[in-house]
Amino acid sequence: MDPVRNPYAPGAGQRPPELAGRDTELSAFDVVLERIARGRPERSLVLTGLRGVGKTVLLNQLRSAAINRGWGTGKIEARPDQSLRRPLSAALHMALRELRHPDQESTDAVLGTLKAFAQRQAEGPSGAPAKVRDRWQPGIDVPAATGRADSGDMEIDLVELLSDVAGLAADVGKGVALFIDEMQDVQPDDVSAICAACHELSQQGSPLIVVGAGLPHLPAVLSASKSYSERLFRYLRIDRLDRAAADRALLAPAEREDVEFDTEALDQLYAAADGYPYFVQAYGKVTWDVAAASPITAADVAMAAPAAEAELAVGFFGSRYDRATPAEREYMHAMAELGGPTGAAVGTSDVAVALGRKPASLSPARDSLIKKGLVYSAERGQIAFTVPHFGRYLLSHATD
Ligand SMILES: Nc1ncnc2c1ncn2[C@@H]1O[C@H](COP(=O)(O)OP(=O)(O)O)[C@@H](O)[C@H]1O
Ligand SMILES: [Mg+2]
Repeated sequence: MDPVRNPYAPGAGQRPPELAGRDTELSAFDVVLERIARGRPERSLVLTGLRGVGKTVLLNQLRSAAINRGWGTGKIEARPDQSLRRPLSAALHMALRELRHPDQESTDAVLGTLKAFAQRQAEGPSGAPAKVRDRWQPGIDVPAATGRADSGDMEIDLVELLSDVAGLAADVGKGVALFIDEMQDVQPDDVSAICAACHELSQQGSPLIVVGAGLPHLPAVLSASKSYSERLFRYLRIDRLDRAAADRALLAPAEREDVEFDTEALDQLYAAADGYPYFVQAYGKVTWDVAAASPITAADVAMAAPAAEAELAVGFFGSRYDRATPAEREYMHAMAELGGPTGAAVGTSDVAVALGRKPASLSPARDSLIKKGLVYSAERGQIAFTVPHFGRYLLSHATD
């Protein structure tokens, strides 16, 4: 069928033509926004799940919901080894602009604090203050204030800055929502500063919420940082779509183009995609292009499958596999052999036995795979792939 009209959108963070199966999360978020706007205590939200289940697009959708209520919002994508100070400054700058507080003087005062916070960048490696020429100039026109949010201690500075930003939002009867994607990659000092700030602001009844998204071990990262994080955040596990939702993800966009699917075609697509949103989009896209006419049949799906798999092998699996060193690949192959095609979590000691090595000698490979976001520690002594079907991919494709 006409590839120009193909509605499906496989790709990281690509907005799906139909956001299927996330009504529970969306309405939970509406309640959170409403409660915070009324000054009620609420926990911040954290979405967790494997790669490709739709955390980023859901986070973006939640952001739209906040914007639609007139909230100020900002979004960050955390990266390993990067301080949050600059990205946070930019995100909060955006939130302030969205709030459109009518009084310029109050806004400028907070902008001055924000600028001071932004410029108090990183101390050098030895703890020496950054050189003047390293100073970053955020695009803020007001002069930097002094004495607030500029101590250099992230925890203190963040509490002060966020209180001021939330104060402006409270003035106009709105709130501020800060979205943090790939939150497992936030550096330990910054994680603990964020937890502390959320804790402090929720005690003050300030209308500010942090919404995080990350890999399944994110709750463990947060609780390792602050033991009270379990009470601070509400964790929502984002998972595969059930059959009804997966069908809707395919059918609703097709219907808008006057295209239908046979039931057998949907059966086969569900078997192939296993309910993982990324795969649903990938198979949907290729099947559409292969099909000659509506309704799309099981034969179309069978014909499309090898091309869809080949695309996933390059774009979804291969791009990640390529990031691993030979030692890390060896480690992952052992995991795949042990976990089988379902990609079950395996014991780290079993990996060591399978490779005929001492567990300690494998720690560097494992830690670096965790840092690269390819595997995560499901629980103590256990390790699993962050990418669904990765074990299956390794067993059938990669050989080096
Ligand atoms: N609820 C959904 N319904 C249909 N497709 C979805 C849904 N959520 C995500 N997708 C699709 O899945 C893919 C991965 O989404 P993304 O948000 O990048 O996942 P994650 O951030 O969890 O890795 C994208 O192509 C997106 O369009
Ligand atoms: Mg994502």
